[in-house]
Amino acid sequence: MKIAVLPGDGIGTEIVAEAVKVLNTLGLDLQMEQALVGGAAYEVHGHPLPESTLKLAQESDAILFGAVGDWKYDKLDRPLRPEQAILGLRKHLGLFANFRPAICYEELVGASSLKPELIAGLDILIIRELTGDIYFGQPRGRRIATDGHFPGTEEAFDTMRYSRPEIERIAHVAFQAARKRSKKVTSVDKANVLETFQFWKDVVTEVAKEYPDVALEHMYVDNAAMQLVKKPKAFDVLFTGNMFGDILSDEASMLTGSIGMLPSASLNAKGQGLYEPSHGSAPDIAGQGIANPLATILSAAMMLRFSLNQAEAADRIEAAVKDVLAAGYRTADIWSEGTKRVSTREMGDAVVAAITKTT
Ligand code: NAI
Ligand code: MG
Repeated sequence: MKIAVLPGDGIGTEIVAEAVKVLNTLGLDLQMEQALVGGAAYEVHGHPLPESTLKLAQESDAILFGAVGDWKYDKLDRPLRPEQAILGLRKHLGLFANFRPAICYEELVGASSLKPELIAGLDILIIRELTGDIYFGQPRGRRIATDGHFPGTEEAFDTMRYSRPEIERIAHVAFQAARKRSKKVTSVDKANVLETFQFWKDVVTEVAKEYPDVALEHMYVDNAAMQLVKKPKAFDVLFTGNMFGDILSDEASMLTGSIGMLPSASLNAKGQGLYEPSHGSAPDIAGQGIANPLATILSAAMMLRFSLNQAEAADRIEAAVKDVLAAGYRTADIWSEGTKRVSTREMGDAVVAAITKTT
């Protein structure tokens, strides 16, 4: 089982080191190879996604990714910015299916900014399409307008588009995931205004006919944003496109207590996947040893389950995370009165100890 380990920038290196440590305690035959990505790769190779890093990713069964980006690269041309590395990996590997489980652990109910009764027991699965929509649609660019409200002036434009096969394949992913859960899919769109999302709604409704055991509900994205904080537990599988999913999943992370708790998996049609925390490189806290490594450790568990067929090892990691939270270990972002404040490394050590104890 070959794993490409791409720590990236900022806290990426700190949190990935803890996830690797946890993976190494499981006694599995994992071949991990590390490579530079993002700003770290730009410094050495002059490109955020060097040929050698892409090749390693393509040849691996799975990719464990930290985060990329730093303010100091903001002035670079867009193709050279660190963030292009993650977009490039998603595109080159065809990682169209993004899973983000938003789970509120019992011990962290008090860490959220929402009322405890709204989020206690929360367990939502967000499924986001990851390689289409307005983030990748062509044409895009800047030009002098020839029509519109101000002809003759500068304008910028992007293109929102989805093809039938793109919608069908991600819809199947959503319905199959719902089958293993509470058998309900909420498809989030903006069909009232956008033709792309009327088409989305039509195609999803057709695919739903193949899953008579799963209930399908449609919701406009603006209402979904409201319902997520009003009555989050009414969702089970929240299914949507690339841009709406980006925004709604950050919103959902706050239901779990911290963005440092939200893992993710991005899969392609072959089952190959990239696993990363849902947060970024957090330059504001990088190098201080205080970042929460649990989202990355939980992403490593998803990697074992989805790409490496090691469900039992994944269960052991997830149980260990519950154990350390129950024992009161907290990084700064989830700390509250009466709990033990620990560093990034101490949190990783605690997870390792919890796994070793049960072995
Ligand atoms: P961010 O997610 O890096 O940070 C947002 C806030 O959450 C910050 O206050 C940060 O300290 C905190 N935070 C994030 N992860 C944490 C953790 N594990 N433990 C404790 N606190 C944590 O988002 P931001 O600040 O908007 O972006 C920073 C850089 O990251 C930018 O260059 C951005 O483009 C990049 N980015 C990269 C992503 C990726 O690699 N997939 C995703 C999102 C942003
Ligand atoms: Mg985002």
